[in-house]
Amino acid sequence: MTVPDFLIQPSTNPLSDAEREKLLASPGFGRYFTDHMVTIAYKDGAWQRGEVKPYGPLSLAPSASTLHYGQSIFEGFKAFTQPDGSIGMFRPDANAERFNRSAARLAMPAIPPELFLKAADELVRIDQAWVPKNVGESLYMRPLMIATDPFLGVRPSLEYLFVLIASPAGAYFPQGVKPVTVWISEDYVRAAPGGTGEAKCAGNYAASLLAQAQALDKGCDQVVWLDAVHREYIEEMGGMNLFFVYKEDGQTVVATPELTGTLLPGITRQSLLELGKQLGFITREQKLTVRNWRDDIASGRMTEVFACGTAAVITPVGKVKAHGFEFAINNGENGPVTMALREALLAIQHGTAPDTRGWMHKI
Ligand code: PLP
Ligand code: COI
Repeated sequence: MTVPDFLIQPSTNPLSDAEREKLLASPGFGRYFTDHMVTIAYKDGAWQRGEVKPYGPLSLAPSASTLHYGQSIFEGFKAFTQPDGSIGMFRPDANAERFNRSAARLAMPAIPPELFLKAADELVRIDQAWVPKNVGESLYMRPLMIATDPFLGVRPSLEYLFVLIASPAGAYFPQGVKPVTVWISEDYVRAAPGGTGEAKCAGNYAASLLAQAQALDKGCDQVVWLDAVHREYIEEMGGMNLFFVYKEDGQTVVATPELTGTLLPGITRQSLLELGKQLGFITREQKLTVRNWRDDIASGRMTEVFACGTAAVITPVGKVKAHGFEFAINNGENGPVTMALREALLAIQHGTAPDTRGWMHKI
């Protein structure tokens, strides 16, 4: 598909170099936004011409159906400064695919991947000065789609808006790469079979906030979800997938919960299943109960646990708490397998290791 040129309206009052550099010195996560955004409207059954315009408020009818019935999906991927000064994005094509799977589940229209990628290219091109240069830092790209029909009947909207914004990102967790403490959620469930668990839709996150608040209340950083039916199989963490490291017959095994339709098929997760092999580990997808988790840590068979996702890359899990018990993992310290995988992934993203799989999209 050939995508028509976007309409480009540069901002007339972008941040000065000095103001931007001040923000980039300590970007945190999701706090600051670049000077521009992309919008693409969908109406009469077709995507309209893309527009690059100054970052700013959207105008929406109070009756817009996204506000009432929640047709709202999003994605997250990152752009990194490469050693030659160019910019590379990590697997945005995989995000485009997942965006369209989320769209299908929410009865929303697909966006041609070429259009999705062009939106990303155009935004990074115009806001290139916003891409941080340090290792571990990136420009976080946040595409979303909402239903804009001004209509209160319950049916899929006929009109939609695709929006892409970008935000410079440092460490996702304020404490940096330090092990997090997780709370196993027994009172709340994230997703049930047949529901929207594998879609990246806004409602999944709204429904998770109370459990996350409970986790904080219990002195934990993040919530871990169990399956909705048995309430015993580990699914994923708040906004990240989980990996478990085992020592088995002198081999290192890196395992992650299998995709059941109720957890998000993470792009980092899938990348690590491949990268783990390259580092000489056995990688596998499996089921794991809370009891297995406790027993395998107690016996020393399981040596490390970590979470992974676009925003937080790889974050060690140092302690697990639930109603009635708690246990530490690797003495609450960063483990060698976790850190090796983190380094290998960041090296590909920052262009300091060869990209043998064509994961980096250069603009
Ligand atoms: N699980 C959930 C619920 C998420 O929100 C995310 C973040 O995108 C992930 C897992 C990790 O997915 P990815 O590696 O594609 O960022
Ligand atoms: C991501 O890792 O991109 C996420 O979407 C996690 C969270 C910020 C929602």
